[in-house]
Amino acid sequence: MKSLLFLALLGSAFPALADRLPMPANAPASFTTECSSCHIAYQPALLKAADWRKLMAGLSDHFGSDATVDQKTGQEIGAFLERHAGNASRLGNAGNPPRITQTSRFIRKHDEIPAKYWRDPRVKSAANCEACHPDAARGSYSEHDISIRELRE
Ligand code: HEC
Ligand code: HEC
Repeated sequence: MKSLLFLALLGSAFPALADRLPMPANAPASFTTECSSCHIAYQPALLKAADWRKLMAGLSDHFGSDATVDQKTGQEIGAFLERHAGNASRLGNAGNPPRITQTSRFIRKHDEIPAKYWRDPRVKSAANCEACHPDAARGSYSEHDISIRELRE
């Protein structure tokens, strides 16, 4: 009981922890070059290590796109993503190929959003984080910084 109360207090003392996902400072240049041309360079904490490994192994058929990189670059990006990957127990099953938007963490954080917004022409896909979080590439996911006015708290 006591420890639960302590955890609750700890949570409210650091309210910003969950909405800041900064890119680790040691991100290799290849990660930005190779992984941010079609969507934002997703922060490594958004998937668990095993899912990054799966994703990096399937770049030739990457959600219908060819995102192949040479072997050395692939190893560099993969090692970086796995080193800074998110907590496996909180992320849950991301499917195969793994999607951030299928992790239980993502689903829990977005469960109050009415379904129609995922298909909204301003959004198009749940993977399009920037449609709603304009500073997603800089790691800001605050509920107060949402570009779709109806969804702002
Ligand atoms: C040629 C374009 C392209 C490149 C380059 C690319 N991706 Fe993607 N990626 C896509 C597409 C298309 C999707 C699916 C988006 C959707 O469903 O709306 C996707 C989806 C993803 C997803 C899942 C998003 C979700 O739905 O949760 C992850 C994770 C991802 N990419 C990581 C990477 C990484 C890491 C790299 C660099 C190694 C990379 N991508 C390079 C096109 C690309
Ligand atoms: C349709 C708009 C929309 C899209 C697209 C979207 N989000 Fe969100 N997201 C929201 C809203 C609204 C909230 C605030 C929910 C709340 O707190 O009630 C949120 C909350 C979050 C949070 C929690 C912030 C906190 O305060 O704890 C994270 C992390 C997050 N989103 C990450 C992402 C990522 C990563 C993507 C892309 C893979 C994404 N979101 C795509 C609308 C969106």
